[in-house]
Amino acid sequence: MAGLKSIFDQTPLKKLTLPNRLFRAAVGDRSPDGQVGEENLALYEKLARGGVGTILTGFTRVSAKEDNIFPIFALYDDSFLPGHRRLTELVHSRGALIFSQQVYVGSRMSKVFPDDASPEKREKTLFLSPSGTLSGDAGAQPREITAAEIAGVGDDFAGAAVRAKEAGYDGVEIHAAHGFLFSQFLTPLYNRRTDEYGGSWENRSRIVAETYGKVRAAVGPDFPILLKINARESGGQPEDLGDILAMAAKLDDLGLDGLEISGDWWEFSKDSPAYFLSEATRIAEKIKGAVILTGGLRTPGQMDQILNSTGIRYFGLARPLIADPGLVNKFKGR
Ligand SMILES: Cc1cc2nc3c(=O)[nH]c(=O)nc-3n(C[C@H](O)[C@H](O)[C@H](O)COP(=O)(O)O)c2cc1C
Repeated sequence: MAGLKSIFDQTPLKKLTLPNRLFRAAVGDRSPDGQVGEENLALYEKLARGGVGTILTGFTRVSAKEDNIFPIFALYDDSFLPGHRRLTELVHSRGALIFSQQVYVGSRMSKVFPDDASPEKREKTLFLSPSGTLSGDAGAQPREITAAEIAGVGDDFAGAAVRAKEAGYDGVEIHAAHGFLFSQFLTPLYNRRTDEYGGSWENRSRIVAETYGKVRAAVGPDFPILLKINARESGGQPEDLGDILAMAAKLDDLGLDGLEISGDWWEFSKDSPAYFLSEATRIAEKIKGAVILTGGLRTPGQMDQILNSTGIRYFGLARPLIADPGLVNKFKGR
């Protein structure tokens, strides 16, 4: 029908034209040495052929200090560039776009070591968190990150974003959801600091705002930068959406291109389809940048309905595309 929006609309994002409104939401890539390997390439080829417009990579480490934590992609030095170049060229040759999701893991994964991690490695690994608070699933006591280390983390993100641009990615997404370091800063559940990085919502979001500023300065005004945040937390007091709205508005004012709305999906996904819809709808009313809703999206009809009744512009799908990387072509009836 004329005038109705569709998940198959082509839309502009900065100088990009997104092929449709669907993102492959990030799914961690297994990579023992941080490099992009043949198996990873094979999966991305299937995804790119399968019709999803834009692929978010799995979370990618920005610091060598986190080498021991989790066997995922890395982009903290130039040795990783050739593999990422192959990946972006492959995806582009199949007509899709690709963004690099970047993370500072922190203490969230302190239980999860590579199976072959030696006792020395385990001993050497340092888990950083806003206040040294033990996270629910932690295997080791984290240490409170210092203000100097916070500045270093921002520089690490800027360096990794520049490498992502050099490698041919169409944009980056800063991972500030799911209990990783930035996510822990945003919520008073983990952030009990009394310096300028803790307390008020402005202080709790300072690390993200400063990092965004460093990344933007490093990649320039035209390179899209997205941010994934938790709109709802589990395991404590319910998150104050007023704070989330204020943080979203502040980051939007700084020039962020889009916010992907998530939360504790492993818990909330039990509840209902599109389980962060109400939060994402309210955030979309508040900001100029794009809102991407992720979690529990399963059918084109469901997404078209949300598209035409809210300000949400894009949708992220993770588990549906794990089950079938060709799903979006099937949506089109091909
Ligand atoms: C196996 C697996 C790995 C994931 N890895 C990541 C990741 O690297 N980064 C991230 O932000 N989210 C990750 N997620 C969460 C998804 O991006 C998404 O937010 C969540 O699965 C809800 O969407 P869905 O209902 O479409 O699966 C992962 C999810 C799964 C199932």
